Amino acid sequence: MYHLSLRGAVSLSDIYIGGGVFQSTAKHVAEKFHPTRIHVVTDANVEPLYLRALCAQFPLTVTYTVIPAGEEHKNLETVAGIYQDLCEAELTRSDLLIALGGGVVGDIAGFAASTYLRGIHICQIPTTLLSQVDSSVGGKCGVDLPQGKNLVGSFYQPELVIIDTDILSTLPERIFCDGMAEVIKYGCIANRDILELISDPAFKDNMERIVYECVRIKRDVVQQDERDTGLRMTLNFGHTIGHAAEKLGNYVDLSHGQAVAIGMCAAAKLNVLLGGTDYTEPITNACRMHQLPTALPYDTEAIYRSLLSDKKRMSDTMNFILVDQLGKADIRKLPLDELHTLVTQL
Ligand code: GLY
Repeated sequence: MYHLSLRGAVSLSDIYIGGGVFQSTAKHVAEKFHPTRIHVVTDANVEPLYLRALCAQFPLTVTYTVIPAGEEHKNLETVAGIYQDLCEAELTRSDLLIALGGGVVGDIAGFAASTYLRGIHICQIPTTLLSQVDSSVGGKCGVDLPQGKNLVGSFYQPELVIIDTDILSTLPERIFCDGMAEVIKYGCIANRDILELISDPAFKDNMERIVYECVRIKRDVVQQDERDTGLRMTLNFGHTIGHAAEKLGNYVDLSHGQAVAIGMCAAAKLNVLLGGTDYTEPITNACRMHQLPTALPYDTEAIYRSLLSDKKRMSDTMNFILVDQLGKADIRKLPLDELHTLVTQL
């Protein structure tokens, strides 16, 4: 088992990573909090698998909200339902909310915890690879509006994160591969050894170490730039073009991981167009090996139009994340007209 600490502006997060660590959730909760009530937020997919086993660990009554699974439920209406359950359960500021599920559950529960009573303690128990290596750590949480994804949210660190890598073995292959896109991203931006680790045909036997290496990078980045004003933007490698493609497919045609994989391959090509080092082959190969797409499925003009709504866009420039040395990311401010010319050559 690995243990990492993340010192945020207002709290210290303890992150435990390992096979079977889920069974020790109550022990880690008792080391950190003194709740008289615990409320769990989970979804309809995860509930039958892990909710009962989680509740049974605690010597007190645990209440819960089971939300419908899927990004389409990541909205304020779902949050309102959670607030209602928290009021009914009479949770106070000394009590604890636990998010048990993938990225959608983590984002919604984190947002509910950050706003209910102006903030209650939250523990994240991520159950997908994507949420284990990315969204459960670092405190970004929020919901979608009809106008766009993640438009309402907050930075609110979970004080405890329990990452059980044994849970990964029960994931459908498609969901597992989705998370591998973020794993490849960490290899590209910060530690090329990760790319070595995942090129081993038996890499799934080594998920504890692989997830740890990814989370360690995320911890280091978030600790230096919790509010996403500089270094943290490097975590968006592949996400600018990825988000543009995801949006063009109405968030249905491509999963997030598939979109990020396409975005990383496009960013590698874009680096070559800018006269930089050519890493298209190792990045494309890593994506292919993990059953992720590598080619842009949409017209490049449409991709450019779609990326204009990216949160990283300024009035006439965009911060674009490039990798010119495998294992190291650069933030490049590109004028929009130059980006237009580059994107349409992809
Ligand atoms: N998922 C990117 C970040 O947490 O900043």
